[in-house]
Amino acid sequence: MLAERERHLEIRFEAAEVRFEGRVALQPLTLSLGEHRIGVIGLNGSGKTTFARLINGLAKPSGGRVTLDGLDTVADAKALVGRVGFIFQNPANQIILPIIRDDIALGLAHRRLPRPAVDAAVAAALGRFDAAALADRRAHELSGGELQLAALSAVLVTAPQLVIFDEPSNQLDLKNRALVERTIAALPEQAIVISHDLELVSGFDRVLVFDRGGLAFDGRASAAIDHYREIACR
Ligand SMILES: Nc1ncnc2c1ncn2[C@@H]1O[C@H](COP(=O)(O)OP(=O)(O)OP(=O)(O)O)[C@@H](O)[C@H]1O
Ligand SMILES: [Mg+2]
Repeated sequence: MLAERERHLEIRFEAAEVRFEGRVALQPLTLSLGEHRIGVIGLNGSGKTTFARLINGLAKPSGGRVTLDGLDTVADAKALVGRVGFIFQNPANQIILPIIRDDIALGLAHRRLPRPAVDAAVAAALGRFDAAALADRRAHELSGGELQLAALSAVLVTAPQLVIFDEPSNQLDLKNRALVERTIAALPEQAIVISHDLELVSGFDRVLVFDRGGLAFDGRASAAIDHYREIACR
């Protein structure tokens, strides 16, 4: 367990904030995260995705900074390439190439593997979701849930150190939702999961609740969920 924890990134927010044309999306936030499973919950527009995008450098802080194992997500971006995988809220933004197999293989391109090894890795990645048949399908023909599974496969195939899931189960049916839940639970990698599906984060080590761009609660999953329910009933 200790060895596993030692591999986890130490994520630090130091008065990191995000403003869009003067409007605050994330209020100055200072915190450290190093847990295995971190949940992020809160109402629509509360700043969850903005918070997550700061971690992998997709968003730049308007003030303050964010570091991963001491490396600044902006200044040291090159050193952090490949360490954080991000699964977008809308999987259509994730899949770049028309054929699913090619899109998943894209994440392996830098390893210059022979074709059979790439095909095997793609099959194994989709196979985790019992979705190997998606390999030769066209992305634009897939249902929302199928696209989500393809996007998950495309990120996991690259074996990032930390995986951020932005609402991984929002389009999935009950079976695939359970599958994603099990996949996340079994993932050796550190994971940050943004979710409106409270069950998904209920067993997590730590859960953050965002409210109006600020961190409203940070602690145990059950207490965080209670806090979120209070906000939702406000
Ligand atoms: N690129 C942008 N330009 C302008 N405003 C933005 C941008 N991205 C986010 N915002 C605003 O920042 C606030 C926080 O957005 P964010 O996407 O982080 O919310 P969220 O908690 O992920 O919501 P949801 O649950 O709906 O996904 C919102 O008011 C949103 O309109
Ligand atoms: Mg969001």
